[in-house]
Amino acid sequence: MSVEAKFKNLGIDNAPGQEVRQQAADALNALVRGDALPGALVDFSHGDVDAFTPPPGSFEAFTLAVEAGGQQAYTEYRGSADIRAELAVHLSAFTGADIAPDLGVIITPGTQGALFLAVASTVSTGDKVAIVQPDYFANRKLVEFFGGEIMPIRMDYLGSDEQAGLDLEQLRAAFAAGARTFLFSNPNNPTGAVYSADEIAQIVALAKEYDATVIADQLYSRLRYSGQSYAHICASDLSENKILTIMGPSKTESLSGYRLGVAFGSPEIIARMEKLQAIVSLRAPGYNQAVLRTWFNEPEGWIDERIAAHEAIRDDLLAIFRDAGMATRTPQAGSYVFPTLPKLAIGLNDFVKLLRQQANVIVTPGTEFGPHEHSIRLNYSQDHQAAVAAAHRIVEMAKRYSAE
Ligand SMILES: Cc1ncc(COP(=O)(O)O)c(C=O)c1O
Repeated sequence: MSVEAKFKNLGIDNAPGQEVRQQAADALNALVRGDALPGALVDFSHGDVDAFTPPPGSFEAFTLAVEAGGQQAYTEYRGSADIRAELAVHLSAFTGADIAPDLGVIITPGTQGALFLAVASTVSTGDKVAIVQPDYFANRKLVEFFGGEIMPIRMDYLGSDEQAGLDLEQLRAAFAAGARTFLFSNPNNPTGAVYSADEIAQIVALAKEYDATVIADQLYSRLRYSGQSYAHICASDLSENKILTIMGPSKTESLSGYRLGVAFGSPEIIARMEKLQAIVSLRAPGYNQAVLRTWFNEPEGWIDERIAAHEAIRDDLLAIFRDAGMATRTPQAGSYVFPTLPKLAIGLNDFVKLLRQQANVIVTPGTEFGPHEHSIRLNYSQDHQAAVAAAHRIVEMAKRYSAE
């Protein structure tokens, strides 16, 4: 594949955080024209770390690391051995898997860094990779960037709130047609769906039958609503070298600015990831790695409070969208909703642009996550009242531009 072709599909205009560029230009134009934009800007393309701040102690952990000097600045490529040892204890307790600190953990620059290294370490030109639709936009882009062929797997996320709705027959067919990697997020981004224990068991059975590797992005797996159960695929009996789990403290814990992620599981894949990291970024930022000491170490009740606050916002947004007749799955975890828009008289990208220009709201178009041109994604980790007001503005705009 030519370099031009490789980069053609790597658009970043709709990526979280990027739309703000256009928004700044829009706001300036509105100022020049004397238009007043309604309400405060709400940027649903990513969580608001000012509304939901990091747990206490993260900055102190960072400054202690700076004081520690060279030993923390120049860690092993896969990350500080001490911190990996602590992580292995926490992640083993969290997942129920037995995670080896020396061979089974790598610290990366963001969960995104882990995803990049993981896909690069498992996918080569022409390889078929099963990817869920909808799923996190980077999955598709990374596989294509490394020359892989996407085998799309449907997810009927509106069908039931009890399961994710993955089309397991289609997954079987993808494996039968030669796919040897399955990459998915659980909880699913953009819908907030959690895979049921039965779905996970069936994925494991298929992966075993076809000797496939499973990469599970579990970034949001701590932010689970009222009594929601969760099956960690790494705790299944899938062979150790066939499963890699990716997590990080960017979302639930609002530590995104430190750019930290972790991958654990397959020693074989992790050994490749470390070799690649050594030529990409050498290591995750040394001083920042120490912030991982605060992860899974939050004060008593901190996580519960955070989950309750998100659940309250979720419920308000669901009520607003459903009252307006916009079908929306109940997110069981995470902080994303993926409402279905009415049939619009304009294209989705134009609608998203007008939301920005007329309603002062930034959302991510559904097409980033697959062929979902009637949906938008919102990250509702926002100031509660601002999020509710902005959701009402989205509904008004959907009515204004409805084709019906
Ligand atoms: C499913 C998923 N994976 C990975 C990432 C990247 O996260 P990080 O900030 O840890 O790099 C995101 C960010 O939105 C995400 O939603």
